[in-house]
Amino acid sequence: MGILQDKHVLVTGVTLDTSIAYAVADIARQEGANVVISAAGRALRLATKVARRLDPDIPVIELDVTDETHLAGLPAALEPHFGDRLDGVVHSIAFAHPERALGGNFLSTQWDDVATALHVSAYSLKSLTMAARPMLGRGSSVVGLTFDAQVSWPSYDWMGVAKSALESTSRYLARYLGPDGIRSNIVAAGPIDTIAKQAIPGANSFNDIWAERAPLGWDAKDAKPAARAVVALLSDWFPATTGEMIHVDGGLHSTGA
Ligand SMILES: NC(=O)c1ccc[n+]([C@@H]2O[C@H](COP(=O)([O-])OP(=O)(O)OC[C@H]3O[C@@H](n4cnc5c(N)ncnc54)[C@H](O)[C@@H]3O)[C@@H](O)[C@H]2O)c1
Repeated sequence: MGILQDKHVLVTGVTLDTSIAYAVADIARQEGANVVISAAGRALRLATKVARRLDPDIPVIELDVTDETHLAGLPAALEPHFGDRLDGVVHSIAFAHPERALGGNFLSTQWDDVATALHVSAYSLKSLTMAARPMLGRGSSVVGLTFDAQVSWPSYDWMGVAKSALESTSRYLARYLGPDGIRSNIVAAGPIDTIAKQAIPGANSFNDIWAERAPLGWDAKDAKPAARAVVALLSDWFPATTGEMIHVDGGLHSTGA
């Protein structure tokens, strides 16, 4: 029996098989979960295609976290697969304009681009959780993904600010939903070679930083360590943990230089 046996889990943010969310969906299923995948916009077609590799029958629904109609329709979209119970929500979503909000233009980025980054990458943790709220109950778990925003990084710019907001949003969700037995946690992953990472000009320097400094070493081609931590946080093995951020970064965060 797996650690997510018979749990109902929504995994957002699948585009390709390199997506961290794809590895989460894969491992969650191996651990016994029933998984629904969601994707947005142009990613929907690609997600539907790669999801078939996991299971030809895996449900894939459309969910753009900035679309109020999609959010309002989430329980109805999940109902045929899960009934009225959702045990886990994985938020694996981020976007900022690559040229205007990332890559060294921090000082000249305009509010519109900052607002987009914050809306899609941080506020959406709250809107997604509240869209799912009618189906969440005691023991349900929400997990998001960050690139540790307690410090600044080269090129990461306004996504770093958005990740700080995401990390803080998770702590407030933990505060407000804890009394109902719903947990909210974040996994801070090291660099993984996905589409989102490739969109950050200069992000390959992260791989060099990790190669030099991570005590355990780091494989940027392998999303499984981060995905396993997400699955663990979805499970009943972290029943008293909320508002937490767990680093899955080969230990880099613990080093000073
Ligand atoms: N790749 C890394 O190095 C790394 C490291 C730490 C954290 N993360 C975080 O992991 C998460 C997943 O990213 P990834 O690296 O797997 O890349 P990815 O490109 O595979 O996934 C990002 C997903 O966000 C989705 N998305 C963008 N706008 C959306 C919207 N409006 N509504 C719904 N979905 C939307 C995209 O469709 C895509 O599926 C992100 O939060 C990212 O910041 C990534």
